[in-house]
Amino acid sequence: MVTSSAGTVPAARIAVLGRGLIPVDEPVLRGDDLGVLRGDGLFESMHLRQGRPWLRDEHLARLTTAAAAVDLELPPTDTLIDLLDTVRAGWPAQIEGALRLVCTRGSEAGGAPTVYATLTEVPASSRAARRNGITVAVLPLGVPADARTGLDWLPAGIKSTSYAVNSAARRWAQRAGVDDVLWVSSDGYALEGPTANVVWLTGDTLCTVPAATTGILPGTTVAWLLAHADELGLSAAERMVTPAELHAADGVWFSSSVRGLTEVRMLDGVRRDHCPRTPALHAVLGFPVG
Ligand SMILES: Cc1ncc(COP(=O)(O)O)c(C=O)c1O
Repeated sequence: MVTSSAGTVPAARIAVLGRGLIPVDEPVLRGDDLGVLRGDGLFESMHLRQGRPWLRDEHLARLTTAAAAVDLELPPTDTLIDLLDTVRAGWPAQIEGALRLVCTRGSEAGGAPTVYATLTEVPASSRAARRNGITVAVLPLGVPADARTGLDWLPAGIKSTSYAVNSAARRWAQRAGVDDVLWVSSDGYALEGPTANVVWLTGDTLCTVPAATTGILPGTTVAWLLAHADELGLSAAERMVTPAELHAADGVWFSSSVRGLTEVRMLDGVRRDHCPRTPALHAVLGFPVG
């Protein structure tokens, strides 16, 4: 247990398929698990609010699509839901949780996938980013925007546990003294961050980058936001965008399941004014901002 602003909460929980809730310091993976050896697995991160995983079915649907794309045999959806219910049972409703579901291909020797769920408190840094916004630098991805969707052997837009490239980008951000990066294709288009989609407002249109033609992750958070844009008197669109167009936009944000919506307050060293729409976007998404 740890003491947080909201009182005493469990530091972390883990539930493993077939074993239930286990002590967090107990081993989960075999040394020959292909998730470790090859980064051969899939995961989903969800926001636990009032004790329930927000957009759970959308996350499970994305996981199912990704599993089909990489020939990974998932347990039935009801079993995955039971596992999520096991790990979250009794979690204090007032504590925001980061709920992760991981499915690796399992042992190199064959057999069933390794499936487990973890639950931790949403880090204070994520909540601060939601409140205060973030600084972002653009980072070349080194391939054209359509490079990944042009290859029919390469599954695109899946949330794979192979996050080495994403982690390298986050380390680069740290060295560069910014909070996050925005990947830009070799033909000049902004794509996504290593753990977030980019959203921008131009006039009365809330936009994001199309996943289908670029191979970026189709984000659950941005999909929900754009589907509810009309509640704010806005229309929604998927468009390609350049960094120059983002500089000229009326608002720019990063969106992801646990951090939620974070306003980009500095893009490539250029300060951006606070967008007056940000509080309303937060309200639509329902992430606490305090
Ligand atoms: C590469 C990448 N893009 C986008 C996202 C945002 O997706 P979601 O809103 O479903 O969390 C994530 C989330 O982790 C991500 O890793």
